[in-house]
Amino acid sequence: MKIIVIGSGYVGLVTAACFSEVGLDVWCMDTDSAKVAQLNAGHCPIYEPSLPELLARNAAAGRLHFSDSLEQCLVDADVAFIAVGTPEGEDGSADVSYVRNAARSVGRLMKGDLVVVVKSTVPVGTCAQVETILREELKARNASFAFDVVSNPEFLKEGHAVDDFMMPDRVVIGVESARARAVMAELYRPFMMTGDRIVFMDRASSELTKYTANAMLATRISFMNDIANLCERVGANVDMVRKGIGMDHRIGPKFLYAGCGYGGSCFPKDVKALIATAAQHGYDMEVLQAVERVNARQKTVLFEKISRHFKGELKGRVVAVWGLAFKPGTDDMREAPSLVLISALLEAGCAVRVFDPVAMEKSRALLGDAVYFAKNMYDAAQGADALAVVTEWKEFRLPDWKKLRAAMKTPVVFDGRNIYREESLKNAGFLGYRIG
Ligand SMILES: NC(=O)c1ccc[n+]([C@@H]2O[C@H](COP(=O)([O-])OP(=O)(O)OC[C@H]3O[C@@H](n4cnc5c(N)ncnc54)[C@H](O)[C@@H]3O)[C@@H](O)[C@H]2O)c1
Repeated sequence: MKIIVIGSGYVGLVTAACFSEVGLDVWCMDTDSAKVAQLNAGHCPIYEPSLPELLARNAAAGRLHFSDSLEQCLVDADVAFIAVGTPEGEDGSADVSYVRNAARSVGRLMKGDLVVVVKSTVPVGTCAQVETILREELKARNASFAFDVVSNPEFLKEGHAVDDFMMPDRVVIGVESARARAVMAELYRPFMMTGDRIVFMDRASSELTKYTANAMLATRISFMNDIANLCERVGANVDMVRKGIGMDHRIGPKFLYAGCGYGGSCFPKDVKALIATAAQHGYDMEVLQAVERVNARQKTVLFEKISRHFKGELKGRVVAVWGLAFKPGTDDMREAPSLVLISALLEAGCAVRVFDPVAMEKSRALLGDAVYFAKNMYDAAQGADALAVVTEWKEFRLPDWKKLRAAMKTPVVFDGRNIYREESLKNAGFLGYRIG
């Protein structure tokens, strides 16, 4: 079976690499010719653990190809995955124009029967739109190829994407025909050897499942951030509260960590898109509106703590920032809380020294020369009046406190991810602030 993956970003590349790893002939396509050239030269354009090795191995085996020509990719193709971006539109709804454009191109260029799988996160009704577009284009060409449109949202986490794809909790598939169902079951069979975890459903439910999953996870985070802010006001410790509730099997321990807000390419835009979908249907998503508001406020909490500590006198202060990516394990900077903190610090007249183990290059493109890009975490702390930890990379967890103390002008740490024990900070001679 030959499959093609349209869009070679975080999702497209992982999808292509994992399907080729199980033996399929995979063509990965992108309109960004520079990205395709990079891939053909053996460079992985994103940071994602074990992805470069997977791409290299399967490309060398002749099972994985990269191209900017959809026409070339579609020759003898059986299945086409659409994995292009669905960014936030101006009114908060998902911008599905990239998906529609990809579908139109497929309709214009397909050369035989095809199963078209929408892997991008799309609002309910998008698969039906894709079907209409394909039908229109085939009619305009007077072509009568058979096609099916399938919804197959992706649940991978950046930083663990390959493992998530190889060993998924579940695979959700929205299908309307027995033929497409059989093709999808066959495609995912290699990833189900330890038990069948494919859930078949109708397309609308499948499309909505993806948004509901992200909205639920975002809700847990905002809820715990709200509780953390209350803890600070009543003298409780949010880590204790988290442990206390996480042991309840009905609640579970995951996604209960308070911090300085969620970011990334998914939660912020997907929560907004779900609110927008509901509004289009005359329904008010009250819980999610609060989730969104709490998160926007939480991204400012670290700055407020820093400002309060220095009694509002921030002009000329040097602040070190450890961690720029929206979470550890990725170089993705989309909606990263670090950007909100850095822009507030700069506006208040601070000098900012930043370090991230993998996101320096992507950050440079966003921050230019407004901040100092440090050589390492201790270089960032050099001469700093305060250190803010924004992303919980492993290497920040047990720093050399003596070295850090010697580098900083004043020993104050604002721990935005609660990775340090109060005692450790105190014993090392630091004044520590945390969330909750
Ligand atoms: N990143 C994640 O963690 C994640 C997880 C699950 C689902 N998703 C969803 O998957 C989709 C893709 O996300 P991503 O993070 O991989 O996006 P991305 O921005 O990293 O990649 C999208 C790619 O699509 C390409 N593209 C755009 N239009 C094209 C076209 N017509 N033909 C070919 N290529 C085209 C772009 O050049 C880009 O390389 C989104 O809907 C997103 O919400 C993302």
